[in-house]
Amino acid sequence: TAVGATGLAATAGCIGGGGDGSETITIGSDIPYPPFEYRNEAGDLVGFDVEIAEAVFGEQLDREFEFQETSFDGIIASLNNANFRVIMSAMTINESRAERVDFSDPYFTAYQTVLLLKDSDITSREDLRGEAVGVQKGTTGEAAAEDLQAEFDGELEIESYDQINGAFDALLNNQVSAVINDNTVSGEFAAENDDVEFLEGDGVASDRDDAPPYLTLTVEEYGIAFRQDDDEFREAVNEAIQAIRDDGTYDEIYDEYFQA
Ligand code: ARG
Repeated sequence: TAVGATGLAATAGCIGGGGDGSETITIGSDIPYPPFEYRNEAGDLVGFDVEIAEAVFGEQLDREFEFQETSFDGIIASLNNANFRVIMSAMTINESRAERVDFSDPYFTAYQTVLLLKDSDITSREDLRGEAVGVQKGTTGEAAAEDLQAEFDGELEIESYDQINGAFDALLNNQVSAVINDNTVSGEFAAENDDVEFLEGDGVASDRDDAPPYLTLTVEEYGIAFRQDDDEFREAVNEAIQAIRDDGTYDEIYDEYFQA
Protein backbone atom coordinates (compact mmCIF):
# COMPACT_ATOMS: atom_id res chain seq x y z
CA THR A 1 0.00 0.00 0.00
CA ALA A 2 1.09 3.57 -0.60
CA VAL A 3 2.48 5.59 2.24
CA GLY A 4 1.08 9.09 2.77
CA ALA A 5 3.33 11.91 1.61
CA THR A 6 3.60 13.33 5.08
CA GLY A 7 3.79 9.98 6.82
CA LEU A 8 7.05 8.87 5.30
CA ALA A 9 10.05 9.80 7.38
CA ALA A 10 12.46 9.75 4.51
CA THR A 11 15.33 11.78 5.85
CA ALA A 12 18.54 10.26 4.60
CA GLY A 13 19.48 7.30 6.68
CA CYS A 14 16.21 6.52 8.36
CA ILE A 15 13.88 5.06 5.83
CA GLY A 16 13.50 1.67 4.42
CA GLY A 17 11.57 -1.52 4.34
CA GLY A 18 11.73 -4.53 6.61
CA GLY A 19 15.28 -5.32 5.63
CA ASP A 20 16.79 -8.78 5.49
CA GLY A 21 20.19 -7.97 6.82
CA SER A 22 21.65 -7.23 3.41
CA GLU A 23 23.24 -3.89 2.63
CA THR A 24 21.18 -0.70 2.46
CA ILE A 25 20.33 0.36 -1.07
CA THR A 26 21.62 3.87 -1.61
CA ILE A 27 19.75 6.07 -4.08
CA GLY A 28 21.41 9.10 -5.67
CA SER A 29 19.02 11.99 -6.31
CA ASP A 30 19.08 15.74 -6.89
CA ILE A 31 16.76 17.41 -4.39
CA PRO A 32 14.54 19.47 -4.53
CA TYR A 33 12.66 18.47 -7.64
CA PRO A 34 9.02 18.51 -6.55
CA PRO A 35 6.77 16.60 -6.87
CA PHE A 36 9.37 13.83 -7.35
CA GLU A 37 11.87 14.41 -4.51
CA TYR A 38 11.68 17.28 -2.03
CA ARG A 39 11.34 18.04 1.66
CA ASN A 40 7.96 18.78 3.17
CA GLU A 41 7.44 21.40 5.87
CA ALA A 42 8.43 18.90 8.54
CA GLY A 43 11.73 18.41 6.73
CA ASP A 44 10.96 14.85 5.64
CA LEU A 45 12.00 13.71 2.19
CA VAL A 46 8.83 13.00 0.22
CA GLY A 47 7.66 12.78 -3.38
CA PHE A 48 6.55 10.43 -6.11
CA ASP A 49 10.02 8.89 -6.51
CA VAL A 50 10.38 8.50 -2.75
CA GLU A 51 7.11 6.60 -2.49
CA ILE A 52 7.87 4.46 -5.54
CA ALA A 53 11.21 3.66 -3.90
CA GLU A 54 9.40 2.70 -0.69
CA ALA A 55 7.06 0.41 -2.66
CA VAL A 56 9.77 -1.12 -4.86
CA PHE A 57 12.83 -1.38 -2.61
CA GLY A 58 11.12 -1.41 0.79
CA GLU A 59 7.93 -3.38 0.28
CA GLN A 60 8.57 -5.56 -2.78
CA LEU A 61 12.26 -6.29 -2.28
CA ASP A 62 12.15 -5.99 1.52
CA ARG A 63 15.35 -3.99 1.60
CA GLU A 64 16.55 -1.01 3.58
CA PHE A 65 17.17 2.03 1.40
CA GLU A 66 18.18 5.65 1.73
CA PHE A 67 18.29 8.66 -0.54
CA GLN A 68 21.61 10.43 -0.95
CA GLU A 69 21.52 14.04 -2.16
CA THR A 70 23.80 14.70 -5.10
CA SER A 71 23.94 17.24 -7.91
CA PHE A 72 22.15 16.20 -11.10
CA ASP A 73 25.00 17.22 -13.37
CA GLY A 74 27.54 14.45 -12.91
CA ILE A 75 25.07 12.06 -11.27
CA ILE A 76 25.91 9.29 -13.76
CA ALA A 77 29.64 9.59 -13.11
CA SER A 78 28.85 9.46 -9.43
CA LEU A 79 26.81 6.26 -9.87
CA ASN A 80 29.65 4.73 -11.87
CA ASN A 81 32.08 5.70 -9.11
CA ALA A 82 29.90 3.60 -6.79
CA ASN A 83 28.87 6.52 -4.60
CA PHE A 84 25.40 4.95 -4.52
CA ARG A 85 23.70 1.87 -5.94
CA VAL A 86 21.07 3.44 -8.22
CA ILE A 87 19.84 6.82 -9.49
CA MET A 88 16.24 7.73 -8.88
CA SER A 89 15.88 11.39 -9.73
CA ALA A 90 13.06 11.86 -12.24
CA MET A 91 15.71 10.77 -14.72
CA THR A 92 14.78 10.49 -18.36
CA ILE A 93 15.83 7.39 -20.25
CA ASN A 94 17.75 8.36 -23.38
CA GLU A 95 20.35 6.93 -25.72
CA SER A 96 23.37 8.91 -24.61
CA ARG A 97 22.78 8.02 -20.96
CA ALA A 98 22.12 4.39 -21.89
CA GLU A 99 25.70 4.19 -23.13
CA ARG A 100 26.86 4.72 -19.55
CA VAL A 101 24.12 3.18 -17.41
CA ASP A 102 21.35 0.60 -17.69
CA PHE A 103 17.80 1.73 -17.06
CA SER A 104 14.87 -0.02 -15.44
CA ASP A 105 11.62 -0.27 -17.32
CA PRO A 106 9.97 3.18 -17.60
CA TYR A 107 7.88 4.30 -14.65
CA PHE A 108 6.66 7.78 -15.61
CA THR A 109 6.00 9.84 -18.78
CA ALA A 110 7.11 13.47 -18.92
CA TYR A 111 7.30 16.26 -21.46
CA GLN A 112 9.64 19.21 -21.88
CA THR A 113 7.61 22.38 -21.64
CA VAL A 114 8.23 26.12 -21.70
CA LEU A 115 7.31 28.22 -18.67
CA LEU A 116 6.95 32.00 -19.06
CA LEU A 117 6.02 35.04 -17.03
CA LYS A 118 2.35 35.85 -17.57
CA ASP A 119 3.18 39.32 -18.84
CA SER A 120 5.64 37.90 -21.40
CA ASP A 121 5.46 38.94 -25.07
CA ILE A 122 6.29 35.38 -26.11
CA THR A 123 3.22 33.68 -27.52
CA SER A 124 4.71 31.02 -29.79
CA ARG A 125 7.68 28.71 -30.06
CA GLU A 126 9.16 30.95 -32.77
CA ASP A 127 9.02 33.93 -30.39
CA LEU A 128 11.73 32.23 -28.32
CA ARG A 129 14.26 33.09 -31.02
CA GLY A 130 16.80 35.55 -29.61
CA GLU A 131 15.62 35.08 -26.02
CA ALA A 132 17.41 33.66 -22.97
CA VAL A 133 16.07 30.44 -21.47
CA GLY A 134 16.87 28.90 -18.10
CA VAL A 135 17.43 25.16 -17.61
CA GLN A 136 18.89 22.80 -15.04
CA LYS A 137 22.43 21.76 -15.91
CA GLY A 138 22.83 18.27 -17.33
CA THR A 139 19.12 17.69 -17.88
CA THR A 140 17.03 16.85 -20.89
CA GLY A 141 15.59 20.37 -20.50
CA GLU A 142 19.07 21.64 -21.30
CA ALA A 143 19.25 19.24 -24.26
CA ALA A 144 15.86 20.46 -25.54
CA ALA A 145 17.11 24.04 -25.26
CA GLU A 146 20.22 23.12 -27.26
CA ASP A 147 18.05 21.58 -29.97
CA LEU A 148 16.01 24.76 -30.13
CA GLN A 149 19.20 26.82 -30.25
CA ALA A 150 20.38 24.77 -33.25
CA GLU A 151 16.99 25.18 -34.90
CA PHE A 152 17.33 28.95 -34.41
CA ASP A 153 20.87 28.96 -35.88
CA GLY A 154 22.34 29.84 -32.53
CA GLU A 155 19.86 32.59 -31.73
CA LEU A 156 18.97 31.39 -28.27
CA GLU A 157 20.85 32.03 -25.07
CA ILE A 158 20.92 29.14 -22.60
CA GLU A 159 21.51 29.79 -18.90
CA SER A 160 22.20 26.55 -17.02
CA TYR A 161 21.64 26.39 -13.26
CA ASP A 162 22.82 23.71 -10.85
CA GLN A 163 19.30 23.22 -9.56
CA ILE A 164 15.93 23.87 -11.14
CA ASN A 165 15.10 26.49 -8.50
CA GLY A 166 17.90 28.63 -9.91
CA ALA A 167 16.15 28.66 -13.27
CA PHE A 168 12.76 29.43 -11.71
CA ASP A 169 14.26 32.30 -9.68
CA ALA A 170 15.93 33.68 -12.81
CA LEU A 171 12.54 33.68 -14.53
CA LEU A 172 10.88 35.54 -11.66
CA ASN A 173 13.77 38.04 -11.64
CA ASN A 174 13.59 38.62 -15.41
CA GLN A 175 17.08 37.23 -15.99
CA VAL A 176 15.67 34.70 -18.45
CA SER A 177 12.44 34.85 -20.47
CA ALA A 178 11.52 31.18 -20.16
CA VAL A 179 12.34 27.95 -18.33
CA ILE A 180 12.49 24.68 -20.24
CA ASN A 181 11.84 21.77 -17.89
CA ASP A 182 9.75 18.68 -17.16
CA ASN A 183 6.02 19.52 -17.27
CA THR A 184 4.88 18.29 -13.87
CA VAL A 185 7.74 20.01 -12.04
CA SER A 186 7.16 23.33 -13.79
CA GLY A 187 3.44 22.74 -13.22
CA GLU A 188 4.00 22.40 -9.49
CA PHE A 189 5.93 25.67 -9.50
CA ALA A 190 3.19 27.35 -11.56
CA ALA A 191 0.57 26.13 -9.10
CA GLU A 192 2.31 28.13 -6.38
CA ASN A 193 3.28 31.19 -8.43
CA ASP A 194 0.61 33.37 -9.94
CA ASP A 195 3.11 35.17 -12.14
CA VAL A 196 3.96 32.25 -14.44
CA GLU A 197 2.19 30.16 -17.07
CA PHE A 198 3.03 27.64 -19.78
CA LEU A 199 3.62 28.57 -23.39
CA GLU A 200 0.72 27.13 -25.37
CA GLY A 201 0.70 25.67 -28.83
CA ASP A 202 0.87 22.41 -30.71
CA GLY A 203 3.84 20.30 -29.74
CA VAL A 204 5.26 16.85 -30.30
CA ALA A 205 2.79 15.29 -27.86
CA SER A 206 -0.37 16.99 -29.13
CA ASP A 207 -1.78 13.77 -30.55
CA ARG A 208 -1.45 11.87 -27.26
CA ASP A 209 -4.45 11.47 -24.93
CA ASP A 210 -2.32 12.05 -21.86
CA ALA A 211 -0.45 15.08 -23.22
CA PRO A 212 -0.53 18.32 -21.28
CA PRO A 213 -2.65 21.09 -22.86
CA TYR A 214 0.31 23.31 -23.79
CA LEU A 215 3.41 23.26 -25.98
CA THR A 216 5.49 20.10 -25.61
CA LEU A 217 9.06 19.94 -26.96
CA THR A 218 9.68 16.25 -26.19
CA VAL A 219 8.06 13.10 -24.85
CA GLU A 220 10.25 11.31 -22.29
CA GLU A 221 10.10 8.42 -19.85
CA TYR A 222 11.73 8.20 -16.46
CA GLY A 223 13.73 5.17 -15.38
CA ILE A 224 15.82 4.06 -12.43
CA ALA A 225 19.50 3.95 -13.49
CA PHE A 226 21.95 1.16 -12.59
CA ARG A 227 25.59 0.50 -13.19
CA GLN A 228 26.04 -1.67 -16.26
CA ASP A 229 27.20 -4.64 -14.20
CA ASP A 230 24.09 -4.77 -12.03
CA ASP A 231 21.76 -6.90 -14.19
CA GLU A 232 20.44 -9.22 -11.55
CA PHE A 233 19.41 -6.37 -9.29
CA ARG A 234 17.95 -4.41 -12.21
CA GLU A 235 15.82 -7.40 -13.21
CA ALA A 236 14.55 -7.77 -9.64
CA VAL A 237 13.63 -4.08 -9.63
CA ASN A 238 11.80 -4.45 -12.95
CA GLU A 239 9.75 -7.29 -11.48
CA ALA A 240 8.99 -5.16 -8.45
CA ILE A 241 7.85 -2.27 -10.67
CA GLN A 242 5.57 -4.66 -12.53
CA ALA A 243 4.23 -6.00 -9.21
CA ILE A 244 3.27 -2.54 -7.94
CA ARG A 245 1.59 -1.78 -11.25
CA ASP A 246 -0.38 -5.05 -11.00
CA ASP A 247 -1.46 -4.66 -7.37
CA GLY A 248 -2.62 -1.04 -7.63
CA THR A 249 0.11 0.51 -5.50
CA TYR A 250 1.52 2.44 -8.44
CA ASP A 251 -1.89 3.97 -9.23
CA GLU A 252 -2.44 4.93 -5.60
CA ILE A 253 0.87 6.78 -5.50
CA TYR A 254 0.22 8.31 -8.91
CA ASP A 255 -3.21 9.60 -7.87
CA GLU A 256 -1.81 11.03 -4.67
CA TYR A 257 0.56 13.27 -6.62
CA PHE A 258 -1.05 13.81 -10.00
CA GLN A 259 -4.81 13.63 -9.58
CA ALA A 260 -6.74 16.54 -8.13
N1 ARG B 1 13.94 14.47 -16.49
C1 ARG B 1 15.04 15.39 -16.65
C2 ARG B 1 16.29 14.64 -17.01
O1 ARG B 1 16.36 13.47 -16.85
C3 ARG B 1 15.27 16.23 -15.42
C4 ARG B 1 15.57 15.48 -14.17
C5 ARG B 1 16.04 16.35 -13.03
N2 ARG B 1 15.89 15.62 -11.81
C6 ARG B 1 16.13 16.14 -10.60
N3 ARG B 1 15.87 15.44 -9.56
N4 ARG B 1 16.64 17.32 -10.49
O2 ARG B 1 17.26 15.23 -17.44
